[in-house]
Amino acid sequence: FPPLSPLFPSLILNPSQDSLSQLPAPQHPRIHLYNAKQVLSWEPVALSNDTRPVVYRVQYKYTFSDWSDIDIVGVNCTQITVTECDFTASGTSKGFPMDFNVTLRLQAELGELHSAWVTMPWFLHYLNVTIGPPKDVGVTPGEGSLIINFSPPFDINSSTVSFEYYVHYWEKAGIQKQKKVKGPYKSNFILLDGLKPFRVYCLQVKAQLFWHGTIRSGHLSNTSCYETMADASTKLQQVILISVGTFSSLLVLAGACFFLVLKYGGLIKYWFHTPPRIPSQIEEYLKDPAQPILEVLDKNNSPKDDAWDSVFIVSFPEKEHEHVLQTL
Ligand SMILES: *[C@@H]1O[C@H](CO)[C@@H](O)[C@H](O)[C@H]1NC(C)=O
Ligand SMILES: *[C@@H]1O[C@H](CO)[C@@H](O)[C@H](O)[C@H]1NC(C)=O
Ligand SMILES: *[C@@H]1O[C@H](CO)[C@@H](O)[C@H](O)[C@H]1NC(C)=O
Ligand SMILES: *[C@@H]1O[C@H](CO)[C@@H](O)[C@H](O)[C@H]1NC(C)=O
Ligand SMILES: *[C@@H]1O[C@H](CO)[C@@H](O)[C@H](O)[C@H]1NC(C)=O
Repeated sequence: FPPLSPLFPSLILNPSQDSLSQLPAPQHPRIHLYNAKQVLSWEPVALSNDTRPVVYRVQYKYTFSDWSDIDIVGVNCTQITVTECDFTASGTSKGFPMDFNVTLRLQAELGELHSAWVTMPWFLHYLNVTIGPPKDVGVTPGEGSLIINFSPPFDINSSTVSFEYYVHYWEKAGIQKQKKVKGPYKSNFILLDGLKPFRVYCLQVKAQLFWHGTIRSGHLSNTSCYETMADASTKLQQVILISVGTFSSLLVLAGACFFLVLKYGGLIKYWFHTPPRIPSQIEEYLKDPAQPILEVLDKNNSPKDDAWDSVFIVSFPEKEHEHVLQTL
């Protein structure tokens, strides 16, 4: 046994520490568990009398296993110079299984020297995770409703764990305190109905994680606002309103015309007075009543004269008039 050096009084006070613990331990380590991310970070160990870089080593253990270096696929947290270990950094690594009880420890190393281990409190991802808001929230305005769809905050592929969702919503024009909450919903496709038509509603969604009887509540998504469309009863109201409106306008118009005709009848007659013109066929017929009228009409029927939109008042001497009436 080497004699205990008076240079390291801490070793005497704390015999559980390694005899090579000559480096200060990394400070303020923290475990960051957000959605599927698992990151351990700490503050660098700075030495004023040594220019070599300090490196760090992270180890983990599960409840019934021994300490091991991080050997998760693609993640190396042994003798690293950076002050964080992102267990989920690599595309191929999903980090520690989310239902495993994990304990981490960390030390600083410099050549032959190393610091004491800093052991973190244990964590179990599903129990300790901070759950972000649902992702890709999309809203489609419906008839007196809003249709909301989104993705879960992160992928879970285990039968022991599930998400449930809540919607917080309120009318934008209303008092903010009148927030309503609907849920829980198992599906990430929610129909928020019973809303007033043509109103702007604001909403937020949040997820809740269930794991073995424990619940972890997630963060609310950013507020987004949408206007609802007409519902069935409003549509009916619109149809009725439009019909009634059209009908009353027509009535008013008709009334106005009638009034004008009554009042300015003479004037209108004067304006619209054009000398009456007898259609050439009838004129011809009238000149020569022996000719059958239908033939005349057929013969002289040119496309130009097709559309007659005038009423003619034809007056002739008594005899001929009678003759016309007889023929017709
Ligand atoms: C650097 O200084 C610390 C005390 O501040 C001392 O414990 C350590 O042995 C020194 N390291 C070297 C390499 O001289
Ligand atoms: C881990 O990275 C460090 C420095 O980046 C390197 O020295 C070490 O050999 C690597 N370890 C493994 C197992 O790849
Ligand atoms: C995780 O393991 C630690 C001991 O390593 C234990 O104290 C703790 O209760 C365990 N947590 C759960 C949830 O099993
Ligand atoms: C995880 O949660 C447990 C229980 O709430 C707590 O005792 C433990 O310290 C947490 N772990 C971390 C790393 O925060
Ligand atoms: C939510 O709002 C914050 C701040 O306005 C912004 O930084 C963040 O990117 C937004 N998140 C999403 C998912 O849009």
